[in-house]
Amino acid sequence: MRLSVIGCGYLGAVHAACMATLGHDVVGIDVDPRKIDALSRGEAPFFEPGLPELLAEAMATGRLTFSTDIADAAGASVHFVCVGTPQKDGEYAADLRYVDASVTSLLPHLSAEDLVVGKSTVPVGTAARLAALVEEVGASLAWNPEFLREGYAVKDTLTPDRFVYGVAPGDAGKRAADVLDTVYARALADGTPRIVTDYATAELVKVAANSFLATKISFINAMAELCEETGADVTQLADAIGHDERIGRRFLNAGLGFGGGCLPKDIRAFMARAGELGADQAVAFLKEVDAINGRRRVRMVDLAREVNGGSIKGRRIGVLGVTFKPNSDDVRDSPALDVAVQLALQGADVVVTDPEGIANARGRYPDLTYVETVEEAVRDADSVLLLTEWKEYRDLVPSAIGELVAHRTILDGRNALDPTVWRDAGWSYRALGRP
Ligand SMILES: NC(=O)c1ccc[n+]([C@@H]2O[C@H](COP(=O)([O-])OP(=O)(O)OC[C@H]3O[C@@H](n4cnc5c(N)ncnc54)[C@H](O)[C@@H]3O)[C@@H](O)[C@H]2O)c1
Repeated sequence: MRLSVIGCGYLGAVHAACMATLGHDVVGIDVDPRKIDALSRGEAPFFEPGLPELLAEAMATGRLTFSTDIADAAGASVHFVCVGTPQKDGEYAADLRYVDASVTSLLPHLSAEDLVVGKSTVPVGTAARLAALVEEVGASLAWNPEFLREGYAVKDTLTPDRFVYGVAPGDAGKRAADVLDTVYARALADGTPRIVTDYATAELVKVAANSFLATKISFINAMAELCEETGADVTQLADAIGHDERIGRRFLNAGLGFGGGCLPKDIRAFMARAGELGADQAVAFLKEVDAINGRRRVRMVDLAREVNGGSIKGRRIGVLGVTFKPNSDDVRDSPALDVAVQLALQGADVVVTDPEGIANARGRYPDLTYVETVEEAVRDADSVLLLTEWKEYRDLVPSAIGELVAHRTILDGRNALDPTVWRDAGWSYRALGRP
């Protein structure tokens, strides 16, 4: 099939490349010429494991092209909308201007019978509003929320754990589902479950899923707060409750909490939309989920002050990790970057390293000191903070980096290290939610 993918960021670039490797003819469109230039050369404009290889494979087939001109979407029969839906400045609500602009700019290039497929995460009610515009030109609309995880985006796109199609009522909706079945034929043949539903349910599925995940993380972080008060160990608590299948151990790692371009803004947009609908009480708990999450960052800075004898002014602090999670270069709403910035604002001499996130972090906070290697980051440090659990940081040899630091003090913001190993090597080890 001929497809267009509008918006080639973390979601769209991966979607476009994956669809081309599945055999579709794909044009990826973005308003950012730098992204399109890089993608047209077969280069990934951000770090995502497996994407460079996938792009090379897809470009070699000749089935994948990129453009900044929305007119190049003409001729495709399915148009995926993958643009950003960030948080509005100073408000909880989602900023829909990119979704609205992309759909409006697409309208003159649509043919009757085309299908526009929203993949961006949007407030409930958006699809119905946009469907009216799309139907005016004889095309139709489906909402097909995306659940990919950065770091696993290629795998998650090629072999998702489920498809959700939000479609119009009646024959138009049946046709839309058939078209999406053709697009995703390979994964469906492999048995991927598919749920065909109405627009509102599809939109809510996505924010409900992210709200659940955020709640699970904040739940264990709330337990970490209690562990800190009582001398209990949150990692053992998580292991113990996680053995109950109804609870499960995944997403139950206490630490600095969640961040990134999705969970924080999605739960806030959900609260804002629920408020507009007069249903704010239903998701009032998300305010607490967000607050618990924010408190972990404050606690980390407090802990840094504590282990530095009550003041971090002028103290040399080596920070390992700035991205919101490992295997990504994304620093949007990153807890790690937030903590590093707070430490610097409070007068610490902060030196930051990260395997992939330095360029993005520098773009946001040019005044922090960034270095390429762990060795440079920890040299002469009064304390070392592990803030993103990259594998290379989990695998550090405490005796080796112990030779470089001024004081063997480590704060493990992700509960990613083995305290015994570090203490045995002469380190003072502290972590969130652990004695
Ligand atoms: N990143 C993820 O892990 C992930 C996972 C699931 C869902 N989502 C959702 O997918 C959407 C996109 O997220 P992202 O992380 O890819 O964002 P992103 O910021 O990386 O990418 C968005 C892209 O859209 C482009 N764009 C903006 N307006 C445009 C227009 N009018 N026409 C064409 N392109 C335009 C931007 O230039 C940018 O490249 C969001 O709604 C997000 O919540 C993201």
